[in-house]
Amino acid sequence: MSFDHKVRDLSLAEAGRHQLRLAEHEMPGLMSIREEFSESQPLKGAKIAGSLHMTVQTAVLIETLTALGAEVRWASCNIYSTQDEAAAAAVVGPDGTPEDPQGVPVFAWKGETLEEYWDCTNQILTWPGGDGPNMILDDGGDATMLVHKGMEWEQAGQVPPTTDEDSEEFAVFKELVRRTMADDPQKWTKIGAGIKGVTEETTTGVHRLYELAKTGDLLFPAINVNDSVTKSKFDNKYGCRHSLIDGLNRATDVLIGGKVAVVCGYGDVGKGCAQSLAGQGARVVVTEIDPICALQAAMEGYRVARLEDVLAEGDIFVTTTGNFDVITAEHMVQMKDKAIVANIGHFDNEIDMAGLAKIEGVKKTEIKPQVHEWTFPASGDRPEHSIIVLSEGRLMNLGNATGHPSFVMSNSFANQTIAQIELFTKPGEYDKQVYVLPKHLDEKVARLHLDALGVRLTELTKEQADYIGVDVAGPYKPEHYRY
Ligand code: NAI
Repeated sequence: MSFDHKVRDLSLAEAGRHQLRLAEHEMPGLMSIREEFSESQPLKGAKIAGSLHMTVQTAVLIETLTALGAEVRWASCNIYSTQDEAAAAAVVGPDGTPEDPQGVPVFAWKGETLEEYWDCTNQILTWPGGDGPNMILDDGGDATMLVHKGMEWEQAGQVPPTTDEDSEEFAVFKELVRRTMADDPQKWTKIGAGIKGVTEETTTGVHRLYELAKTGDLLFPAINVNDSVTKSKFDNKYGCRHSLIDGLNRATDVLIGGKVAVVCGYGDVGKGCAQSLAGQGARVVVTEIDPICALQAAMEGYRVARLEDVLAEGDIFVTTTGNFDVITAEHMVQMKDKAIVANIGHFDNEIDMAGLAKIEGVKKTEIKPQVHEWTFPASGDRPEHSIIVLSEGRLMNLGNATGHPSFVMSNSFANQTIAQIELFTKPGEYDKQVYVLPKHLDEKVARLHLDALGVRLTELTKEQADYIGVDVAGPYKPEHYRY
């Protein structure tokens, strides 16, 4: 079989396949969905453009989608997050060889440039024969943004000129759309018209979707996978609890115990990060803008402070907010010598990397890929000093480590698969709005993971169910319940 793809090295496929095999064992939810639906093929005819970290777990997701009948094209949603052996295994497929790949077209490798990144995103939306996909599976919303902005600018007849206000990435993005418009001035309009829906993985991407829905600009129905309870209360929290310190250890190997670790943001991701740092014996400080989350952090025993007040104390700083400019260049200059600065939120603008590079006299030294020392010149009483920035400010659990482990991703990706089936098989039942999966499916995803952990669920009697006003088979909680 011959198909286009671009990955680092197909000879890594065997190593990737071994990891996939072990991951499958740790992904009971995804595997049982594979079993349940492989005969009925609900995704037959689905052409899914996937933009999500190209890891081992994602390769298991890809092979689940294809087992259910889908065709896919895949890119990563971050320049550093690809595991090259997983990308190779997905291209080669379980039955192929590096010389005769039988898997799926993947366009992803660890360490893409921004130009390459947007080219790869363009590739997943450009299907052979001039067609487009009919479904998007997104993480962070970049593939969805390309279709929306592309269509908006095509209808305006031009891409707005690049200005000094644009980030480097947005300038690269505009350039890509300019190129595609020069080739085909209707490309994105046609692709947008062919898409039945998008399923979105993360908080930041979901935020973008609600903005589009609010202004009436959302082009197709969307399912917010992030806010399934079995996604955000597990992946964002327990996933980051695992992968934050994995990233810190692989990048720096500093002892975390006893250090002052500052976690900016105490939402789902922040809660997992704070817990893992505390588990290692760090003295955790939380910063928050939301009084409820600040109070939660205080009740858990963390000190809650303003970032300005702990700059000189913190040994490790982690941003988890999904907001921008949370750690500014001015903050970084004031930090302790060799403080570690990392972001685990979706985009790199939580830490002002552009501002850091503009500080007069600042010097950047590569310690190893995705670990950089930024040295500030002596100034006033302060001698020369430096900070260590991970993954250039991009999400460090995927840049410096391999992201979340399989078991937690099985929950997230079971939701993704169910959401794809839902939107693909029920056209017309969803408007151009953002939906969450119904609670009985959320409970189903959780249920699929209980046996593997030896959990024995208590069963309600009919009388008990009546007494608390639920069905014996669930759902067990009202919509407004917060877990
Ligand atoms: P969330 O909305 O639950 O939490 C973010 C918290 O940050 C909120 O409590 C908010 O009040 C707080 N915050 C906002 N601005 C702040 C500021 N200037 N200073 C201090 N706190 C501030 O969102 P969630 O689900 O925790 O996600 C956070 C980010 O992490 C998002 O970008 C999301 O896409 C990303 N994410 C990354 C993952 C990874 O593996 N790296 C996994 C899951 C989510």
